[in-house]
Amino acid sequence: MDAPEFYTTFSTLYDALARHGPGVGRLREALADALAPAPGDTVVELGCGTGANHPHFRDLIGPAGRYVGVDFSPGVLDVASDRERAAGAAFVRADATRPPIRSASVDACCSAFVSGMLAEPAAAVRTWADLVGPGGRLALLDLARTTRPGWRLLNPGFRLFVRLGSPPGGANPFDGSPTARLDERVAAAHRELGTRCSDVTTATLAGGFARVSAGTVR
Ligand SMILES: C[S@@+](CC[C@H](N)C(=O)[O-])C[C@H]1O[C@@H](n2cnc3c(N)ncnc32)[C@H](O)[C@@H]1O
Repeated sequence: MDAPEFYTTFSTLYDALARHGPGVGRLREALADALAPAPGDTVVELGCGTGANHPHFRDLIGPAGRYVGVDFSPGVLDVASDRERAAGAAFVRADATRPPIRSASVDACCSAFVSGMLAEPAAAVRTWADLVGPGGRLALLDLARTTRPGWRLLNPGFRLFVRLGSPPGGANPFDGSPTARLDERVAAAHRELGTRCSDVTTATLAGGFARVSAGTVR
C-alpha cells in the first residue's frame, strides 16, 4: 500500500487524530503563530491532509486571506473539502514537492508532519522557499525522536507510533529503521529552512518530540 492509498483508506481515522489527538491543537497553534501570516495573505500548506490546520490559519489571515491545501491522497482531500471548503479553503490534488501553484500569488508556505515522508526533504524545502520567494514566510512542524533528558525514555513508544503510522510496504526493508529515517529527513528539512531563511525561529514542544521552525525567505 503506497502513501496515497494509506491516507485514503484511513482518512476518517486520521482526521479524528489530527483534530482531537492529545496536545495536537497546541502544535497546530504553534505552527500558525510561527508562520505568522498577515491578514489578507495567501497561505499554501503542502501535504495538508484533512485540512486540520486551516482553522488555525483562518483566524490569522481573516476573511480576505486565502488558504490552499495541496495533497496527493484523494481520501484526505475529500474529508478536507467536505468540512473546510465551506469555511473558505481551497484544495488541490498534486505532489507537494512540485506544487502546481503560481509563485507570485503566495505569501506563506508551510507543512506539518510531512518532511519525514519525503525522499528528498531538503530539495522540497528549497522548492517551497522558491514558491514564496524573497520576503515570504516559510514554516515547518514535524515530529522526531526527542533528545531531552527524561523524555528520552519515551523514545521506544515513539518508535512504535512511527511504525504503526507508516504506510506498510512503502519502504525498502533494508533501508533501516523508519524512525532513524524520519529523524534524518526532519533534520535535513529544518536545516534547509535555516539556510534559506533569515529571522529563523526554532522551538521544540511536546517534550522535544515536536519541532517548529520558521523564517522569512531571503
Ligand atoms: C501525516 S499527514 C499530515 C497531514 C496534515 N499536514 C496535518 O497536519 O494533519 C501527511 C500528509 O502528507 C501527504 N503527503 C505526503 N507526501 C506527499 C507528497 N509528496 N505530495 C502530496 N502530499 C503528500 C499525505 O497524503 C498525508 O495527507
